[in-house]
Amino acid sequence: MSKLIVANWKMNGNINKIKADLITYAKTLSTNQSTVVLAIPTLYLYEASQICKEFNVKFKLACQDISQFSNFGAYTGEISATMMKETNVSYVIVGHSERRAYLNESGSTLLGKIENALLNEITPIFCIGEDITTRNKGGYAEFLIQQLELLTQIKTPFSSLVIAYEPIWAIGTGVIPTLEQISEISKLIHAFVQNYLPHAKITALYGGSVSSKNAQAILDILDVGGVLVGGASLVVDDFSKICLY
Ligand code: PGA
Repeated sequence: MSKLIVANWKMNGNINKIKADLITYAKTLSTNQSTVVLAIPTLYLYEASQICKEFNVKFKLACQDISQFSNFGAYTGEISATMMKETNVSYVIVGHSERRAYLNESGSTLLGKIENALLNEITPIFCIGEDITTRNKGGYAEFLIQQLELLTQIKTPFSSLVIAYEPIWAIGTGVIPTLEQISEISKLIHAFVQNYLPHAKITALYGGSVSSKNAQAILDILDVGGVLVGGASLVVDDFSKICLY
């Protein structure tokens, strides 16, 4: 099965790096089976889409955020889904734990972003994940289900969605859950979708300290449809190895 490999550059990179990396990927990744998605800072998306065309890089693009407000209007600093679509993005990351924590993004904010993305044919990559205290106390399944419940409130019709399990304690720490733990949560995601969103085709990703060393084993898990890669996606050699799965 073709897997979905998403690079989350976060607030990193610059136009020279993007160009250089994409030209390298054009040479090294012509035979990969996986679908590769690059989430780079919004400012560089349009240029990146032009570079992909020019050098025949078969990557899809994602934005790391999108406005909860629709179309156009007096929302200083915001970029709407309609505008984002003009930069040729196919996906948007919504609900990343960094934005939930640093930008105080609440359920209604996330829902607005998801609705606007779907209305503009941008597929949300919805992130869920528990902190270490919740994990250790054992209430992580209930916590994750509560985060997933937001998806049952979506009004815009949709046929596919990406859900990324990103335990907060694994992001940028070098610590990853066991393969059994990752598999358990992927199954939980699939069961939830089957029960509450039976019309949707779901891809369940794992994210948090994915590296060129551990990616293969994670991607081998049957219920895992791909990975969301932060730090390792900034290193061309490492990310190439992950994409060549
Ligand atoms: P990491 O980040 O791979 O650097 O742990 C993943 C993420 O936050 O999406």
